[in-house]
Amino acid sequence: MQLRIVENQRQLGETAADMIESVIRANPRAVLGIATGSSPLPVYAALARRVRNGLDLSGVQAFALDEYVGLSAEHQQSYRNVIRCEVVEPLRMNPALVHVPDGCAYDLNAECLGYERAIKDAGGVDLQILGIGSNGHIGFNEPGSDPASETRVVDLTEQTRQDNARFFNSLQDVPKHSITQGIGTILRARQILLVASGYPKAAALKAAMHEPTDPATPASHLRAHSSATVIADSGAASQLTKGSLSPALAN
Ligand code: GLP
Repeated sequence: MQLRIVENQRQLGETAADMIESVIRANPRAVLGIATGSSPLPVYAALARRVRNGLDLSGVQAFALDEYVGLSAEHQQSYRNVIRCEVVEPLRMNPALVHVPDGCAYDLNAECLGYERAIKDAGGVDLQILGIGSNGHIGFNEPGSDPASETRVVDLTEQTRQDNARFFNSLQDVPKHSITQGIGTILRARQILLVASGYPKAAALKAAMHEPTDPATPASHLRAHSSATVIADSGAASQLTKGSLSPALAN
């Protein structure tokens, strides 16, 4: 894993946008994996500035990482709605090319299988954008997730529900289940870009990057990937001291 430490959110966004832009310039029909949560927002803001200056994402296809079970597409906190507002509209993407699992599907298992197949049929993900949960989750792959897992319905931990309660009126309103791409699905992306900001992510990032790979920290499985980059601000990187990084990490 490559590590880039940046000073602030704007720099985080611009650094990530440089990588994403180069993928899109090389292939205007690239397939992106897109994440929700607050961490990638500066990335989408940086890309939106570039779109206003002529970068064209209208041919880019995208697959969301996850979706809450039971929230309608119209619900303000459904990831379908968040992605429409934060990604599709500001980046002027073609909504028909942006896929989000349907958390209200009658047959959720069939929805998961179909989603996994759609990613494969699209040729796989060229670049997957990820955040990290304070418990080390990626997507909604909670601690203990199988590294070979694919898109499926999962239970959300109490920690994750509490972390995400800030987006809802109360903790009771936070769904208890979600659909998420699996760790195996994520690891098949050709390139991975994880962004982390703020002190609350510091312990999870340290566990992911320089403690032994551990099912208790799902993000630690990213170390098996040959092209994974972490962009962290000083808060998230505060427990990653240069001296304690292995030579491969300290660049
Ligand atoms: C949610 C999402 C994750 C995201 C995490 C962290 O749980 N499913 O994909 O990485 O939140 O979010 P934030 O960046 O807001 O801390």
